[in-house]
Amino acid sequence: MVNIRYVLAARPTGAASEQHFERAELPIQQPNEDEVLVKVYYISLDPAMRGWMNAGTTYVKGVEIGAVMRAFGAGEVIESKHPGFSVGQMVTGLLGVQQYAVENGAYLTRVDTDAAPLSWYLGLLGMPGLTAYFGLLDKANPKSGETVLVSGAAGMVGSLVGQIAKIKGCKVAGIAGGPDKCAYLTEELGWDVAIDYKNTPDLAARLRETLPSGIDIFFDNVGGDILNAALTHLARGCRIVICGAISQYNQSTPVGPSNYMKIVSARGTLSGIIVFDYFGRASEAINDISTWVKAGKIKYREHMIQGIEHFPAALNQLFTGENQGKLLIQNF
Ligand SMILES: NC(=O)c1ccc[n+]([C@@H]2O[C@H](COP(=O)([O-])OP(=O)(O)OC[C@H]3O[C@@H](n4cnc5c(N)ncnc54)[C@H](OP(=O)(O)O)[C@@H]3O)[C@@H](O)[C@H]2O)c1
Repeated sequence: MVNIRYVLAARPTGAASEQHFERAELPIQQPNEDEVLVKVYYISLDPAMRGWMNAGTTYVKGVEIGAVMRAFGAGEVIESKHPGFSVGQMVTGLLGVQQYAVENGAYLTRVDTDAAPLSWYLGLLGMPGLTAYFGLLDKANPKSGETVLVSGAAGMVGSLVGQIAKIKGCKVAGIAGGPDKCAYLTEELGWDVAIDYKNTPDLAARLRETLPSGIDIFFDNVGGDILNAALTHLARGCRIVICGAISQYNQSTPVGPSNYMKIVSARGTLSGIIVFDYFGRASEAINDISTWVKAGKIKYREHMIQGIEHFPAALNQLFTGENQGKLLIQNF
């Protein structure tokens, strides 16, 4: 039996593609003391992976050339030399783009697959779910009646942010690419406003027209021109949460917002979130989100790709907007 894995072969300057990865077939590694061998059933594809392909360190060190590509994954323990794990348990962790992972048990999280499907622990109940939950509730403290604008609104993080804001009694507007994604926001999720940025020549004007009292909370996943347009229409005392800037990840010289002084006039607050800071509080998010799902207040969709061989092309779907919901690879 072999382990198929994708290693980082070269660092991209623009979009990542096949040429930046190398497929390798190696014998399955055996775990040493305190380690666990995991059969990886699902690989999570996240926008952050593009940043991890760069050299240097941001909030985490870039992947080394020749190392297995870093990715969150979920799977089953098939051999354990760690006292806290036994064969058959389901776990998540940074398992990498591969079929079998050997990881120290200290870096794995046991998950309850009686409570929810395994793949959900990479999305709704995993890293991106925690990002949406704490990014909105901890960083922006939404109050009933406030206006919340979300960019990247039909994606994994964005769609959950807006749904939680609705639960909190806010007026919710989303910015997404294309009529189908916008229809999903208003018709399926019941949001108040959806703006198709690909077919809206003057986004700032459209925000003024559709959100007359201004933006109390802007949860930004996209950055660039969308962030700059949102800054023109802030309400007094607004909170801006910078979660990501996907429009900039493939740029060699990312651009910042020229309208940032609008934050001063609005007496606004700008904060960034790194989800890793909240992993110790994961159960708060998982409990609340699970309760909301059971009550029918949260909808969730996964975009599942079959087969690890599609990894290099699939990653790029996050940047073309092809993914409809949480992007995952089913490995077996
Ligand atoms: N800070 C943290 O700890 C943390 C943790 C997790 C995620 N994040 C960030 O959260 C954001 C969303 O991540 P996700 O996992 O939920 O991904 P996602 O939204 O499910 O997928 C990415 C979406 O971004 C949109 N997009 C791509 N390029 C764009 C561009 N140039 N302009 C406008 N929209 C663009 C596309 O949707 P359209 O079809 O609508 O264009 C695409 O479907 C990312 O910025 C990510 O880095 C941050």
